[in-house]
Amino acid sequence: MIFIILQKTEKLNINRLNNIQSFKNLDAKTKEVLIQYLNIESEYCYAIRKMSAKLENLDDYCQSHFDHNPIHHIESRIKSPESILEKMLRRGYDLSFDTLKKNIYDIAGIRVVCNYINDIYQIVNLLMKQKDLQVSITKDYIVKPKDTGYRSLHVVFSMELYLDHEVKHVPVEIQFRTLAMDMWASLEHELRYKSKNNLSDENKKRLSQYSEDLYKVDLNMQRVYISAIVGDDDND
Ligand code: GTP
Ligand code: MG
Repeated sequence: MIFIILQKTEKLNINRLNNIQSFKNLDAKTKEVLIQYLNIESEYCYAIRKMSAKLENLDDYCQSHFDHNPIHHIESRIKSPESILEKMLRRGYDLSFDTLKKNIYDIAGIRVVCNYINDIYQIVNLLMKQKDLQVSITKDYIVKPKDTGYRSLHVVFSMELYLDHEVKHVPVEIQFRTLAMDMWASLEHELRYKSKNNLSDENKKRLSQYSEDLYKVDLNMQRVYISAIVGDDDND
């Protein structure tokens, strides 16, 4: 297997903070939180790498045992320091490192796009069996979609990591979706963003209806898969 690092993204770095004008303008409390966070940012990067490897291994396992790849593709990102601060302010949290660590659980974020709905629950069940992972939050927007029509299964795992000779527990948020749910979320996000949050009620209703339509397609594709590949017609 060949690994190629295409591009090292420019990230904020403690040693270079004082060269950044916007950092100099921050108040002392915000600077302190930012510095403390940057000291542990690499833990979240490590957690993403480890979780991504687990997910790829599970996909390989399913390929060799069930002749099926549940995962279509995986995306990941580290929340930017600006977004972390923005979320803390939006939620009215007090600006401290402790609050950040306890309440911001989507710093390490992974999106797993699956082929079929059942694949999502199969991958989550396999992850739940792993001893270094504990589920801390589950939000099932597949069974109960948001008012917008948004569907995905969000699971926050607390991951045990061995770092600097000590054990740490780092939260990783995974958004599990089917290809259809991902298509809807991606287009809806762009439409909402580009219309500056001014989608008309009529368009909101349409989008919510299309999410329902896509969900029906997801269920039907699942039925075809079971009938054509697994060979079991009695799958309702
Ligand atoms: P955030 O502060 O946005 O992280 O909200 P939260 O912590 O309350 O989490 P929530 O369960 O609402 O999930 C937030 C994430 O789910 C967002 O960052 C989006 O990726 C996604 N999401 C939630 N609702 C919608 C929606 O209506 N449309 C789209 N396109 N994505 C959504
Ligand atoms: Mg989030």
